[in-house]
Amino acid sequence: MAESSLHQAAKTAGAKSYLQIVDVVKKFGDNTVVDHINLSIAKNDIFALLGSSGCGKSTLLRMLAGMETPTSGKIILDGEDITALAPYERPINMMFQSYALFPHMTVAQNIAFGLKQDRLSRSDIAERVERMLELVQMKKYAHRKPYQLSGGQQQRVALARSLAKRPKLLLLDEPLGALDKKLRQQTQLELVNMIEQVGVTCIMVTHDQEEAMTMAGRIGIMSEGQLLQVATPGEIYEHPNCRFTAEFIGETNLFGGHVVEDEPDHVCIHSTELPRPVRVGHGITGTMGMPVWLSLRPERVGVSRRQPVASGNWAAGTVGDIAYLGGFSIFHVRLDSGKVVKASVPATHWREEAAPTWNEPVFVSWTDNDAVVLTQ
Ligand SMILES: Nc1ncnc2c1ncn2[C@@H]1O[C@H](COP(=O)(O)OP(=O)(O)O)[C@@H](O)[C@H]1O
Ligand SMILES: [Mg+2]
Repeated sequence: MAESSLHQAAKTAGAKSYLQIVDVVKKFGDNTVVDHINLSIAKNDIFALLGSSGCGKSTLLRMLAGMETPTSGKIILDGEDITALAPYERPINMMFQSYALFPHMTVAQNIAFGLKQDRLSRSDIAERVERMLELVQMKKYAHRKPYQLSGGQQQRVALARSLAKRPKLLLLDEPLGALDKKLRQQTQLELVNMIEQVGVTCIMVTHDQEEAMTMAGRIGIMSEGQLLQVATPGEIYEHPNCRFTAEFIGETNLFGGHVVEDEPDHVCIHSTELPRPVRVGHGITGTMGMPVWLSLRPERVGVSRRQPVASGNWAAGTVGDIAYLGGFSIFHVRLDSGKVVKASVPATHWREEAAPTWNEPVFVSWTDNDAVVLTQ
């Protein structure tokens, strides 16, 4: 963990930040909704703020748009302090969850609307509308009204309308919340392609981890107004920096324990939930004896009828529930300590022998590089 996140931190610090959120706080009365947020975003990044409902994502986005004023802190965009600017003075466009197009206007008129307000020349407007229609592949539909379009098409027109004014920053608040799951997954990739084609810096807010991981290059995990971790989707999944993130992103097995061996390249953790100390192949910032948690993803846990070699990380248990999910199954293995460990095993694993069934004694095992130690 240390190496890859240090590397990332160095890269992030080196990248010229385009948007800087500096110690931003937002209070409503006594309620601190955004709590000392610091964040740097590079030009053309697609960044996702991910967190459960009510954690302050929209409030932070609304402060970027100028629809809320920070209680304290600064927002700097492309070298300019925009904290005190009114929404219409900011080179920013926000696309809402209910992306309401003007129902009485055609697709082309919807896209042209903001440009007309800005008093661009007729030829400039026509050219930009044309370009946007091409970008979102809606040329054929230029003269249709919104009600004649599917949800996905309306979504694309809304994006075209947001991008037509060439904002420096595009803000998306739960952009695909109005679409059903299947359409949402398809539209996620379409949106990313379009955003990358025009090359706009984008911050999106979502409570859907799959959406954040599919669309964003970097993700910020928010909880109770605070940013807990900022990293790439892969790093957040493989190296969560705290229990909240480990449990929030994907599924994990957590074991409470304490450090019994502390070396630069590995640690051993004793947990009363496991039969012997677990060896983990990374160092930690911590001390002998300190309380920690082990996070072990279900897909990292092997299930076997044969006892693993004595020196490895393993435990004996009994198969409880099995959730059959087609390509893989989740085995709930009850250890002798009573702790239930979830193991996700691909169907292809059981070619030589039948999969274990309910109540069968089995062993769960994992390597030194499968678990992550969390100190908070
Ligand atoms: N204008 C407001 N006045 C008072 N409380 C607000 C206001 N806007 C948001 N809140 C509160 O701030 C918290 C965070 O809201 P929000 O930023 O919308 O969360 P999220 O987008 O993460 O779901 C919520 O508890 C919400 O009730
Ligand atoms: Mg919200």
